[in-house]
Amino acid sequence: MTSSLPDLEAILLVGGQGTRLRPLTLGTPKPLLPTAGVPFLAHQLARARSFGVRRIVFATSYKAAMFEPAFGDGSAFGLSLEYMTEETPLGTGGAIRNAAEALTSGPSDPVLILNGDILSGHDIGDQVRTHLARQAAVTLHLTEVDDPTRFGCVPTDASGRVTAFLEKTPNPVTNRINAGCYVFTRSVIDSIPRDEVVSVERETFPGLIESGEVVLGYADRTYWLDVGTPAAFVRGSRDLVLGRLGSPALPGPAGEHLALDGARVSPEAKVQGGTAVGARAVVGAGASVVGSVLLDDCVIEPGALVTDSVVGTGARVCAGAVVHDAVVGDRAVVGPGNELRHGVRVWPDVALPERAVRYSSDV
Ligand code: GDD
Ligand code: MG
Repeated sequence: MTSSLPDLEAILLVGGQGTRLRPLTLGTPKPLLPTAGVPFLAHQLARARSFGVRRIVFATSYKAAMFEPAFGDGSAFGLSLEYMTEETPLGTGGAIRNAAEALTSGPSDPVLILNGDILSGHDIGDQVRTHLARQAAVTLHLTEVDDPTRFGCVPTDASGRVTAFLEKTPNPVTNRINAGCYVFTRSVIDSIPRDEVVSVERETFPGLIESGEVVLGYADRTYWLDVGTPAAFVRGSRDLVLGRLGSPALPGPAGEHLALDGARVSPEAKVQGGTAVGARAVVGAGASVVGSVLLDDCVIEPGALVTDSVVGTGARVCAGAVVHDAVVGDRAVVGPGNELRHGVRVWPDVALPERAVRYSSDV
C-alpha cells in the first residue's frame, strides 16, 4: 500500500566509499552499482516518489561527479534533484547539515533522510505521519536483524520513544536496529554544526536523547536490506528480480531472470534464481547461473557454473570454472578449472590462468 504526502523533501546520503564492496566500488560508487538492471538508487528514488517525495538533495562526496550524469534533474523519475558535495567527507551528520542548505522546507516541516544503500518495503508515508502526530524531533525507522552488532542498536520504551542509540556496539541490548531512514524536523537539522565532521549515529542521536528531545522509533517487519557487502548486494538484486521486494524501477517483469538489451542467453543455459544479465552479456550453452549479478559485456562460457556471485563488466568466466559466493572484478578472466568460493574477490583486469584438475594419483 502506498500512502502519499504532499511535496515531501528528502536528503539522500550517498557519500560513503563503499569499502566493503571493493573491488566493485573502485570505479563506481555503491549507490550507482547496477542492481536488478538499473543503478541501485533508481529503486530508492522510484520508491520515495511513490510515497509523495518530490525533491531530493543528494549528499555526495566519494566519486561525487558521477551522480548528476546518472540522474540529471530527476525528471525521468518525476522528481526534482539537487546535488550538494562535501570537499572532504563530513560524516553522516555533517553531510545532512551541508545538504540542508539546498532544502526549501520551513523550520517545522518534516524532512526525510535516506541512507543510500537500503532496500526497504516500509510505508514511508506512515512513518512521516507518525512523526507529525507525535511532534517528534526525529523519527527513526527500525527493523530487526539476527546480528545487531553491525548496525545501530536502538532500544525503545513502551511508548515507542528511543531510550538510547548504540552504534555498532559489541553488546546489543535488543535486535532492533536503525534501518537508515529518518524523518527530521527541519529545525533539528539546522542545529547540527555546519562544516564539521559529525556522525548522526554517534553524536546527534545520542545528544538529542540525552537532552530529552522526542526521538521516536517507527518499527515494522517489512522487507529490509543494507546492500553494503557483496553477499547482501547480490541478495538485494536477486530479491528485486524475483519480486520479493516490488520496485517501480525494475526494467522488466519480475521472474527467474532479467536480461537487459543485447544480452545473449543460450536456450541450453540455466539462468535462474533472480539472476540479472547485463547488456550484451553472453551466457553459453550448458552454463548455469543462479542468483547472481552479471554486469554488462561479461561472458559466461559454455559449462561454467556461477552461483550467488557478481561478474564484473567485460569479465569472463571460462568453461569448466566454478564461481560461488564470489566477486569477479571488471575485465578479469577466471580461467578453466578455477574454483572461487567463500567470498573470494578477484580484482579488475586480473587473469587467473587455467588450472589443471589434479587427481589423487597425482599427489
Ligand atoms: N555524503 C556523505 N558523507 N555520505 C556519507 C558519509 C559522508 O561522510 N559517510 C557515510 N555516508 C553515507 C553512505 O554512502 C551510506 O549511504 C550512508 O551514509 C550510511 O553509511 P554506511 O557506511 O553504509 O553505514 P553502515 O551501513 O555501516 O551503518 C549505517 O546504516 C545502518 C543501516 O544499514 C548506520 O546508520 C547504522 O546505524 C545503521 O544501522
Ligand atoms: Mg550501509
